[in-house]
Amino acid sequence: MHTYLVTGAASGLGAAVTARLRGRGDRVVTVDLHDSEVNADLGTVDGRTRAVSESLALVGDSLDGLVPCAGLGPQVPDHALIASVNYFGVVAFLDGCLDALAQGTAPATVAISSNSTTIDPTVKPELVAAFMEGDEAGARSLASDLPGNTVYASSKVAIARAVRHRVSEWGARGVRINAVAPGPFRSPLLQQGLDDPVFGPLIESLPVPTGEIGSADEIASVIEFLLSPAASYVHGSILFVDGGIDALLRADAI
Ligand SMILES: NC(=O)c1ccc[n+]([C@@H]2O[C@H](COP(=O)([O-])OP(=O)(O)OC[C@H]3O[C@@H](n4cnc5c(N)ncnc54)[C@H](O)[C@@H]3O)[C@@H](O)[C@H]2O)c1
Repeated sequence: MHTYLVTGAASGLGAAVTARLRGRGDRVVTVDLHDSEVNADLGTVDGRTRAVSESLALVGDSLDGLVPCAGLGPQVPDHALIASVNYFGVVAFLDGCLDALAQGTAPATVAISSNSTTIDPTVKPELVAAFMEGDEAGARSLASDLPGNTVYASSKVAIARAVRHRVSEWGARGVRINAVAPGPFRSPLLQQGLDDPVFGPLIESLPVPTGEIGSADEIASVIEFLLSPAASYVHGSILFVDGGIDALLRADAI
């Protein structure tokens, strides 16, 4: 039996990953705002600090995998909160769990980026820079004056870079780190976007070459693969799981 830690486990992708891992008999320590073993607000420094320490206390000495799924969509009106949860609430778990992961069996982490990183042309370099510098006050201040989709996509670019920037240190400690970059998949977060008068039509207009918007389990199955020894040479990758949307819109961007 392996031990995993999943944030955002009460809903959507985090719940789908948790169900898959528990379904095969593994142990999953869950973190979310509610309905989890550790209930905490990852949008605040105090909340995420407590969440990391309480979840590690439940995990014990060694952790085999981490999947920080907790996140907010672009339609959330508090754009500073999107910045805090989507970037700082994730890297707190990445860095806070490294020692425990280094004690794990074939340990791996999968962070959640998004295909908005490449298909949203409004990514703001200054905001990405504030994320990468760990400047939460600066990122929150910039985010407050930017559209929600810009903050969202910029936070997901920073998550992808946070993964890539860690390959040397994490590789040396025997811990793989990757990200998935999903396109839209069915979840409460997506539904809030579809219900939004601005974002709904934009999401509906996205061409999905596989035919229709995917499910949370279609993302979770790829995460399960990236966590597994079958992906032992996959490290620092940002794997698009979007039904071909990015490839369709940017076929020659490689
Ligand atoms: N659904 C999509 O179309 C889509 C596409 C690309 C990427 N993503 C990403 O996938 C991840 C999961 O999204 P989902 O669609 O499953 O969303 P969801 O809303 O179904 O689940 C997100 C979970 O995060 C939790 N959360 C939110 N704010 C929190 C906070 N401050 N502290 C603790 N927990 C908090 C929520 O309570 C919820 O349980 C997110 O990072 C999201 O950005 C989603």
